[in-house]
Amino acid sequence: MDMGKPENAKFGADAFKDFNTKLPGLFPRIIGPNAMKYLQEVVDSGLASDMTTRFEKTFAKEYGVKHCIATPGCTPALHVLAATFGFEPGDEIIVSPVTDYGTVLGLLYENYIPVFADTEEGSVNVSAETIEKCITERTRAVLVVHKTGIICDMDPILRLAEKHRLIVYEDVCQAVFGKYKGRLAGTFGKAAAFSFDAEKTLGSDTGGCIITNDDEIADRARYMGHSRDAKTVPGFGRVHQDQGLAYRMPSCTAAMTLAQLEIIKPAVEKIDRMARYLTSLIRNIDGILPLEIPDYVDLYSCWMFGFRIDPEKFLCTPEEFVKRLADEGIGDAGLGKYYLMPESLKFLQRKAEKKIYPFSKPPASFDYVYDENTCPNAHRFLKTFIRWSSFSEKYEKEHCELAASIIEKVARANRK
Ligand SMILES: Cc1ncc(COP(=O)(O)O)c(C=O)c1O
Repeated sequence: MDMGKPENAKFGADAFKDFNTKLPGLFPRIIGPNAMKYLQEVVDSGLASDMTTRFEKTFAKEYGVKHCIATPGCTPALHVLAATFGFEPGDEIIVSPVTDYGTVLGLLYENYIPVFADTEEGSVNVSAETIEKCITERTRAVLVVHKTGIICDMDPILRLAEKHRLIVYEDVCQAVFGKYKGRLAGTFGKAAAFSFDAEKTLGSDTGGCIITNDDEIADRARYMGHSRDAKTVPGFGRVHQDQGLAYRMPSCTAAMTLAQLEIIKPAVEKIDRMARYLTSLIRNIDGILPLEIPDYVDLYSCWMFGFRIDPEKFLCTPEEFVKRLADEGIGDAGLGKYYLMPESLKFLQRKAEKKIYPFSKPPASFDYVYDENTCPNAHRFLKTFIRWSSFSEKYEKEHCELAASIIEKVARANRK
């Protein structure tokens, strides 16, 4: 496959600045009215403000959970959780294959083995059935991702995990304040992790957090993630029993995130309405397969709008289809092929193939292979999955109509 000349990956506003779009751009982000006030408090206090604690308490209250531990992102939040669970090297964690590198990093640093469950046919998410096929005597936990804001069908997953005594935890980066059967995404498992990255729905530069109702997990996560696993011993000072981490959310990020939290609920409600409206507009375009929003999703906190094309119906390739969408005005439309972790994590493929620790035997119990064939449903799905991640609360009905008309125009011009 010719991949062209690779460039360093870009993040935040920088990643969006070259797109020419007729739709509302993601940047500049809408910032909560109290952001300046909270930032000023941090400055006026000479960095002695309790902003991070204030954010943690407010977020926990909004989520109706006992604990929130703020981190500099979701990647560190999930790393802290991986360290907190304290499994053995070589233990297996079943994880969604369609996600971001940040979902997996913590597992690898803790020397666990990620086992990618396939997605359900035609869906972006894993299911109880696809997870069950991956359970072995080394499985310790299931880490689900609610990709694009579509929440996994959690009840069967929780039942399966209970039967096998597995911990379930959630990556809620793309589903903040989304609801499943009346319950908030992030409140189903033992713990959940969030991202407040600049691009995310609750965007506040780079930030994240863990939530949990489990006192022991909360204490351990705070100690492991914030206190670097250090206790202060009288007469000596700090002693470290373990490889703790230093992932504390900075006060200025906490100030921004607190302000963003104040405006998130109406934003998510609007996103839900607009995502459903746009879905209804593209549903009848021949060859376009919208992402199905399951009935159990009461509030669709859609981050990135996506659909598949039926390649049999078109003369052009999915790559060409995307290029034409961009030329017509959906500037940041693209294929999401790289979300397939077993294919895009090249270092993981090398480690497994060369049996580098923890893939050496022991601690690994068998030979792992990561490639594009590891999860065939997910691979097939992503080959024709087109999405743009600037979909946001700025969208009005007229923007949905414009997006649908562009999709319709490109489909009509390229249909067989
Ligand atoms: C599903 C998912 N998990 C994890 C991450 C990593 O989040 P962060 O950038 O806050 O570390 C992202 C960010 O893109 C994500 O979308």
